[in-house]
Amino acid sequence: MSKIRLAVAGVGNCASALIQGLTYYTDKGSVDTAGLLHPELGGYRLGDIKIVAAFDVDRRKVGKPVEEAVFAPPNCTTIFQRELPATGVTVQMGPVLDGIAEHMARYPEDHAFRIADEKPCDVARVLRDSKADVLVCYMPVGSEEATQFYAQAALDTGVAFVNCMPVFIASDPEWAERFRAKNVPVVGDDIKSQFGATITHRVLARLMGDRGVRLDRTYQLNTGGNTDFLNMLEQERLRTKRISKTQSVQSQLDHPLDPENIHIGPSDYVAWQKDNKVCFIRMEWRGFGDVPCNLEVRLSVEDSPNSAGVAIDAIRCAKLALDRGIGGPLEEISAFAMKHPPHQIRDSEAIGRLERWIANKL
Ligand SMILES: NC(=O)c1ccc[n+]([C@@H]2O[C@H](COP(=O)([O-])OP(=O)(O)OC[C@H]3O[C@@H](n4cnc5c(N)ncnc54)[C@H](O)[C@@H]3O)[C@@H](O)[C@H]2O)c1
Repeated sequence: MSKIRLAVAGVGNCASALIQGLTYYTDKGSVDTAGLLHPELGGYRLGDIKIVAAFDVDRRKVGKPVEEAVFAPPNCTTIFQRELPATGVTVQMGPVLDGIAEHMARYPEDHAFRIADEKPCDVARVLRDSKADVLVCYMPVGSEEATQFYAQAALDTGVAFVNCMPVFIASDPEWAERFRAKNVPVVGDDIKSQFGATITHRVLARLMGDRGVRLDRTYQLNTGGNTDFLNMLEQERLRTKRISKTQSVQSQLDHPLDPENIHIGPSDYVAWQKDNKVCFIRMEWRGFGDVPCNLEVRLSVEDSPNSAGVAIDAIRCAKLALDRGIGGPLEEISAFAMKHPPHQIRDSEAIGRLERWIANKL
């Protein structure tokens, strides 16, 4: 089996968890695979994924070996695998474009982005020279130009694109068509964590439909202290994140809610929480006889490993698509792994369809 040659755009907390995980599970061998849905996917294990290129714009990361950059500030996710092997890959300067929100400069260095004083590299050339198979996009929310730039670079070089952030590429008909026309796989958009706020809220919403009760009102409030939450203090950058998170829950309801009865989004930045995300869900419904009931859920997770547990499958599916000569949006893994896929389906159905796609039995 060949290796999966992985390039990463944005060496932030999600990339840190993902890269730590590659060594963590390789060292553990095949015995203890807690935390993985697929220890092996289409013949690929985590040890088959090799980092070959990385792009960032932060002065504490650019120019550093990627295995050091993943621990550089302002990254603050849990370190569960301190020792990482030398990759021989240096983080290269990407074009900044709209990647860095202005308000970052008003926050302390340890918590916020600081732009490196370097000229951007030729991203397409680096992708070609490194023979990357898959490019994962971890741009900050609101980075429309930067995400489109990396998507275009993937298209131009025939590199499969996994878009973990909420600028719509796989789910945008024009971008989807461009990937289809060049037969390049794309998975997106906006990763749905392994056991996070979105999947919990979706499954509860669906359960209400399945039990014949009518959801009247709901909210999902989230707080965290990583740069993702700091970045999202800028309301202008949040438009597509709110659409992605809200549609993800609405899509599971038999009777979609009036916008004023559903409120879902990142709610505040609490620095000391670091990469711990706390989510509060409230759901109010009527059951038999229109009698009102409600529930409240408080979920506390480490944000970035939670996303890496799903990204690891999206990356392997993207490579499997390359192996099979399949291009364009990958519907099955996108519906399973992403909040805003080209087509929403129920999560219980998504897992079955994904397993059949992996087994090539659709
Ligand atoms: N569970 C999760 O953590 C989760 C779930 C769903 C979606 N996401 C999304 O994934 C994305 C990444 O999340 P994160 O927690 O790693 O964010 P992060 O803030 O830790 O990392 C973003 C990285 O991108 C870099 N960057 C900014 N502009 C750039 C540019 N133009 N080129 C290259 N690098 C650039 C930053 O310096 C930083 O290292 C966010 O959009 C987030 O909303 C995360």
